[in-house]
Amino acid sequence: MKAFVDFYTKEGISPVAQDIEDLERHFHRRHALYRHVGIVPGLLSGRSILEFGPGSGHNSIVTIAMHPARYVLVDANPVGLEHTRDLLLRFAGAVHTDISIVQSYIEDFEASERFDLVLCEGVLPTQEAPTELLGHIARFVRPGGMILITCIDAASYLAEQLRRFAAALATDKEASTQEKLAVLVPLFGPHLDTIEGMGRSHEDWILDNVIQPFQGRSLMGLEEAIDTLHPEFSVQGTSPSFLVDRRWYKRITGPASDFNAVAKQVYLSELHNFIDARTAHSVREPEENRSLLAACNQAYEAIVSHSEARDSKATARVTQALEGLRREIAGLDPLTVRSFDDFLAVAAQLRAGETDVDWGDFASWFGQGQQYLSLVRAQPLGIPEPT
Ligand SMILES: C[S@@+](CC[C@H](N)C(=O)[O-])C[C@H]1O[C@@H](n2cnc3c(N)ncnc32)[C@H](O)[C@@H]1O
Repeated sequence: MKAFVDFYTKEGISPVAQDIEDLERHFHRRHALYRHVGIVPGLLSGRSILEFGPGSGHNSIVTIAMHPARYVLVDANPVGLEHTRDLLLRFAGAVHTDISIVQSYIEDFEASERFDLVLCEGVLPTQEAPTELLGHIARFVRPGGMILITCIDAASYLAEQLRRFAAALATDKEASTQEKLAVLVPLFGPHLDTIEGMGRSHEDWILDNVIQPFQGRSLMGLEEAIDTLHPEFSVQGTSPSFLVDRRWYKRITGPASDFNAVAKQVYLSELHNFIDARTAHSVREPEENRSLLAACNQAYEAIVSHSEARDSKATARVTQALEGLRREIAGLDPLTVRSFDDFLAVAAQLRAGETDVDWGDFASWFGQGQQYLSLVRAQPLGIPEPT
């Protein structure tokens, strides 16, 4: 089983298109992301970029506008690559970039070339072995170059996974994808309408996050990503931008130059803020957040198993996981607590076969979803020999 690719090719889809009618808005968003993670568009002119999983190429038209000398795009979904090719043809006419579009599994991609920037967005979490794949793609970054990836943990993805559970309760496992969409678009469409700046269609979002099977696949949070690349790579930035390092730079030498340890510590004290994008609170004790994350992981695993098995044993496992999670959630924002309780009430109604449900505060509950993480590959300091 190949994550994403098997589902997309079986359905003949690439459900990752973004609304780019307002190109200025699209470019502003991407530039905001680059700013957060420390990419300076003007400095990429004449550089080399390798992108894994460009999807339908909507972000690629922003990348190409930075005038890299070379741009290699690797994806295994022929439908997505076709869209990417069309978009690049439309928008890269005046650019003198050497472009290669490669249809390949990421795992099989080999090249002797090393790149200034490697991009891999929306690809690694929910692979069967995300950290192994991360190790593979990181090899293509030149010393001193940067990698930009996305991470998802069970806290930032909790609200989406609760919708996966609701979807399993509201649809028949054997129903076709179109039949499932016919039930789920009206059910979750009003939820998606509450997201400001949403650039994807309801159908695509539901296909990608709720209907796509996740059995046997793993998430990858920031901590695991950093641990996988440490010490060869060092954290540069994140989006949302939550890293705070108040140290005086003159004290950052020797072992103190471990920016990865700082990033992991800040991540763990901020993790509760990833659960509900509507709320923001000051930092918590990392141990408290570890316990919250463990409960979210249990819920994630129980929900993914349930969406396959859909029997009473799997339902009981989800119920037990959600009870444990409720105890952890009790310490969070009252809006999150209310939303969770509203979800539990709707889940009980769906289980009883009712379809006319009132989602209450849950309707507008989404987490931070994926977090972007940029890291720089180590290179010698380049201290000159005195003459
Ligand atoms: C969710 S989409 C992300 C698209 C885009 N990067 C974005 O952020 O909107 C994942 C993309 O990665 C591709 N992909 C996922 N796993 C892959 C693999 N193992 N080999 C090649 N392509 C893969 C899929 O075909 C798809 O185009």
